[in-house]
Amino acid sequence: MININYLLGIDIGTSGTKVLLMSIEGEVIATEVSDYNLNSPKVKWAEESPETWWNALKICLCKINKSYANELKSVKAIGLSGQMHGSVFLDSSGNVIRPAILWCDQRTFKQCKTIYKIFGYDGFIKLSYNRALPGFTAPKILWLKENEPENYKKVSKILLPKDYIRYKLSNTYATEVSDASGTILMDIPSRNWSNEILNGLHIKRSLLPEVFESDIISSKVSKEASNLTGLIEGTPIVGGGSDNAAGAVSSGIISSGLISDSIGTSGVVFAHMDRPLYDSQGRVHSFCHAVPGKWHLTGVTLSAAGSLRWYFDEFGPSKEIIKNFPDIKGYDLLDKQAERVPAGSDGLIFLPYLSGERTPYADPDARGVFFGISYLHGPDHFVRSIMEGVAFSQLDCLTLMRDLNINSDKIILFGGGAKSSTWRQIIADILNSKVVTLNVEEGSAFGAAIIAGAGCGIYSSIKEGVDKIINEDKENNPIAENVEKYKKLYAIYKLLYKDLKDNFKKLSSLS
Ligand code: XUL
Repeated sequence: MININYLLGIDIGTSGTKVLLMSIEGEVIATEVSDYNLNSPKVKWAEESPETWWNALKICLCKINKSYANELKSVKAIGLSGQMHGSVFLDSSGNVIRPAILWCDQRTFKQCKTIYKIFGYDGFIKLSYNRALPGFTAPKILWLKENEPENYKKVSKILLPKDYIRYKLSNTYATEVSDASGTILMDIPSRNWSNEILNGLHIKRSLLPEVFESDIISSKVSKEASNLTGLIEGTPIVGGGSDNAAGAVSSGIISSGLISDSIGTSGVVFAHMDRPLYDSQGRVHSFCHAVPGKWHLTGVTLSAAGSLRWYFDEFGPSKEIIKNFPDIKGYDLLDKQAERVPAGSDGLIFLPYLSGERTPYADPDARGVFFGISYLHGPDHFVRSIMEGVAFSQLDCLTLMRDLNINSDKIILFGGGAKSSTWRQIIADILNSKVVTLNVEEGSAFGAAIIAGAGCGIYSSIKEGVDKIINEDKENNPIAENVEKYKKLYAIYKLLYKDLKDNFKKLSSLS
């Protein structure tokens, strides 16, 4: 029988846009990725042009259309996901005013302080369920007002990255609860914009799009977009989800007691919540989930696989490893290097704060550190210690959740880092937990496609889609000897930030 129903997931990532075409049984028919680089015109700045995302999407769809034109025509619904917190400023004609300021941009420390001045530190956490952090959207809006008033005057709509793509596909301004949470302009329990926060910050509600639940059809592909992309005019587009919420759907984190760890550019520990809950110190983010009426907590390491990518781009795999493994390419070579070093990297410790750190320190001035370098250490040690440092930082996030009594008997691991068997074992040892990967490792775009299936009625709910499609695959269990070793190294890792904190500030004041 010919399968006539397909779903499309689109993820507007930080390093590329991914499009995934799948059958309703969850078989991935095609994926295409179009890469781009983020721009850093000044220290602490991270920007991308929204038009780059749109072009990347068109490139991906054009490629899929070449081989799967019929399947693309049979797409029943589209789900969008994307990097969170980015600010797309549009004028009244829908034109982009300036490059989008991204989640990893750290320029808005001053505006975060302004937010606390207006509401009080505890007052703001009580209102928004979150701290005001430089990566979030609200301080970016205040930054624009203060620093580029001419641009601010032109702003008619403020969108998140994936919602800009929705606008390009459908001419509709809309967002959904999970991504909107990351603006910190939301009332998290009632899942809508907070008038109190908007009024306090003097941000007009009309500047923001309407917020929908993630599985609601918020728009349809326009004729113009259909001509440009090959998608069929009128195809429903559901709300979708933030990359983390959609990623959680793709890894089955849709009921209580489940925690995932995603190792992408950023590293995210994500716990499902049946009710809204927040940490009184705001150390973990408390956002709406893409599952209707549910919430989640997250802790974020800003440079997770991003740290390894930095190493790969700057230094590459060692000459020796390239010679020894002529058939292996790319990051798999780094895996081979890390394998050759014992747990603990012979005392080399890495702090992954290449672009500051979010959880638990919320410190834009923190920087990356290799500590304990000796004549013994070579490239293999550096690679392994990066993997270990990222896992220590994820342990920081998980510990905050464990402190809030949120526990799980296993961690579902996904994202680029989960492909490395060495990194998987390191994470199991450092988190001291069973770590499980899944049969599907496609991440947020896949989750967005499942949400689309629920939105258009192909699945009766997100849960039905997940239960049909997702199964556990590989399992790593902690190795007792390594766990003990890592506990000792983690104690030093924690002290290093404490000891270096003031010097990070001094260093930052010089640039
Ligand atoms: C989450 C966060 C990142 C981005 C980029 O709060 O900032 O995970 O969504 O992926």
